[in-house]
Amino acid sequence: MGKLNGKVALITGAGSGFGKAMALRFAKEDAKIVVADLASDQGEKTVNMIRESGGEAISIQADVAQAEDAKRMVKAAVATFGKLDILCNNAGIVGEGKLTEITEEQWQKTIAIDLTGVWLGMKFGIPEMLKTGGGVVVNTASIAGFSVLSGVPADYNVAKAGVIMLTKTAAVEFAPKIRVNCICPGHCLTEMTEQWMTTATPEAIAEINAMSLLGRMGTAEEVAQAALFLACDETSSYITGESLVVDGGHTVVSRGEIEL
Ligand SMILES: NC(=O)c1ccc[n+]([C@@H]2O[C@H](COP(=O)([O-])OP(=O)(O)OC[C@H]3O[C@@H](n4cnc5c(N)ncnc54)[C@H](O)[C@@H]3O)[C@@H](O)[C@H]2O)c1
Repeated sequence: MGKLNGKVALITGAGSGFGKAMALRFAKEDAKIVVADLASDQGEKTVNMIRESGGEAISIQADVAQAEDAKRMVKAAVATFGKLDILCNNAGIVGEGKLTEITEEQWQKTIAIDLTGVWLGMKFGIPEMLKTGGGVVVNTASIAGFSVLSGVPADYNVAKAGVIMLTKTAAVEFAPKIRVNCICPGHCLTEMTEQWMTTATPEAIAEINAMSLLGRMGTAEEVAQAALFLACDETSSYITGESLVVDGGHTVVSRGEIEL
């Protein structure tokens, strides 16, 4: 019997990267998975992978930034599997540019998906969890939510800082029935970073690897493993309102050259 036996988990952005790895990992622990993604073809692929390994999953196309879609994805979970136990608000995007270069459109879009989307997921998901006595929320923030990373734009940083505070607020408002935590990954290899990797110089890749104390970027599976830890009552029953940093030690070091 898996760690999440019979639990129903709704994961946004599960067509790719961390969300997909979470969906596959949670399914391996016998959870029933609702894959919610804007890219429905990608979502279907994740569902097929789960079904091929004997698991249960459905895919729903949803834009997490739209209230109607967020409501619909939660309804689909309950209509198909009868309840909602675990909610991973993970979908996100990242743009580029210094704050004076970011367009208004980019700013609004990032905030809508990366921050409002997390709030909407909880707004509609938490009441469903309460109907069956409680549940667990795992939001995907980022180390960019508390530390400025070179090249990562302000709209993203601000949205992720907001996710950390939304997580704490929800933990306070819904304790003890709902545990709410977030993960703060560092630089990891996913479709989101793949494009950067194809154009980056070997020096830039070496530099990004060296930022982590472990000398490499993280994998989606390593992040999914941290999400599983927080999603599972067996492993994290006394943890709520927390931000779990999964960055290979990147942010424990204050960088800069000094002569001692
Ligand atoms: N990759 C990293 O290094 C890294 C580091 C820290 C945090 N994160 C965060 O992790 C989360 C997942 O990132 P990833 O690297 O797996 O990215 P990814 O691009 O591989 O996957 C993101 C998924 O979200 C979906 N999506 C985008 N907009 C959506 C919307 N409006 N509604 C529903 N789905 C939408 C995409 O279709 C895609 O399937 C994001 O919140 C990201 O900000 C990533």
